[in-house]
Amino acid sequence: MSIISVVGPKGGIGKTTLSINTTAALTRALGSGQDLNRICLVDLDLRLPTITSLLDSHPTKTFYDLFECLGKKVYQVDFLRTVFQTVTWFESYIDGDISASHDKLVDAFNHYKSMNIGLFLSSEFKFGNAIEEMLIQRSEIKTLSQIKALRPAIRKIDLKEYRRLLEKMDETSSPVMEEYINYIEEYGFSIIGGEVPILGKRAHRKRINEPEFLLRFLEFLDGVFQKFEYVIVDTPAGGVNHMSSLMNVIDQVLFVFDLSNTIAINGSIDALHSFIDYYEEFQTDYAKGQLTGLDRAHVNRIIAQKGKGDLYQAIKSKKLSIVFNRCQNNQEIENALKMMRDYLETLDKFHQYKSRIHIVGMVPQHKVINITNNKKSLFYNMDIALSDRMDLIAKSILSDNAICPTLADSDKTIISFLNKFKKPQLLDRLTKKAASSAH
Ligand SMILES: Nc1ncnc2c1ncn2[C@@H]1O[C@H](COP(=O)(O)OP(=O)(O)O)[C@@H](O)[C@H]1O
Ligand SMILES: [Mg+2]
Repeated sequence: MSIISVVGPKGGIGKTTLSINTTAALTRALGSGQDLNRICLVDLDLRLPTITSLLDSHPTKTFYDLFECLGKKVYQVDFLRTVFQTVTWFESYIDGDISASHDKLVDAFNHYKSMNIGLFLSSEFKFGNAIEEMLIQRSEIKTLSQIKALRPAIRKIDLKEYRRLLEKMDETSSPVMEEYINYIEEYGFSIIGGEVPILGKRAHRKRINEPEFLLRFLEFLDGVFQKFEYVIVDTPAGGVNHMSSLMNVIDQVLFVFDLSNTIAINGSIDALHSFIDYYEEFQTDYAKGQLTGLDRAHVNRIIAQKGKGDLYQAIKSKKLSIVFNRCQNNQEIENALKMMRDYLETLDKFHQYKSRIHIVGMVPQHKVINITNNKKSLFYNMDIALSDRMDLIAKSILSDNAICPTLADSDKTIISFLNKFKKPQLLDRLTKKAASSAH
């Protein structure tokens, strides 16, 4: 499995256009094997998802439904389960069955003191009021023996019925992944994501800021990713700040450089810099065992699945890739390369990163894209020259960037790679060479 995140500093530079068409090109490059459903395009733009309408394909369930489900059901059920255990131990203590030093009771007390009530919907559960009453008193209850004051609230909770209700909720609380993945036969790939703005709703904006909620969202995404060989993530402008932990599972970050706009180029370079910073910091914190919060929870789960060595290796070998969009002449490419090299030089990072930054492809400013945009933004297959450009990007991804030049190469080498796409013999030779040197 390989996850490629398409990023850029602002809207309108071609992230969505390139995500869609890269996915289409990858689908063709992988060929029509037995297993058709190998690639998934994820619309991670939670503010303004566009892919479903651009492709005119409408999934039964979107991230909006997912947010509702994860917030209302999954969080609710987990929360109620913790409360159930707490009440059980508290009741035993109040009834005099266990002493104040009982391990489980101490645990329950600590949970009780630190429970996050933010996403709990008390009105949707029969004993919600009693639970709320119990939690409201938290500020006054400082020591374990004081939980005796909770007796009236706890007496209102019928634990047998509570358990029955919980079991019933458990059966229907998890989101069913298949309902969210929409395979489009016409294109041969799947999409998952939005349809309606998600963050417009206050409850959702609140949820996205809750680490507990985010962890569930990431867990769901991880599950989806694992079903596919290639996942292309259309990332919202500016990245996924509230979900930075997501970056830890990404294999390749594809930075879109809009060459028609110098300010946007500076923005893309800045985005590149942010990623370098993030990964360096992450690597150091990971090595020192100093990860916190969501990063830590997420990483622990990945380690449980894949093992520690793999994760560390993956972090160290993250690929940083560049696609030049809206290119009109070679001079623009040279200018952008110079800006990038100068910037990294100033940061004193050029030497370290020049061979890790790959130039994977280029797309010209093209009228077909503007035309198709009015209806659909899938231009792949509508124009041979453009399709060839996309094929080069797909081949780069499939070769794990082994066929691509890097910032360490000369401008001449880079430009000739980006322009010689029409000669498949050359590309094949390069691919073979890369494959043989990889062994
Ligand atoms: N190379 C290009 N040539 C012409 N138009 C382009 C090109 N790349 C993108 N566009 C157009 O620019 C607009 C913004 O692109 P989009 O992919 O939606 O950007 P983003 O996702 O970064 O906001 C769209 O109308 C798209 O069709
Ligand atoms: Mg977009």
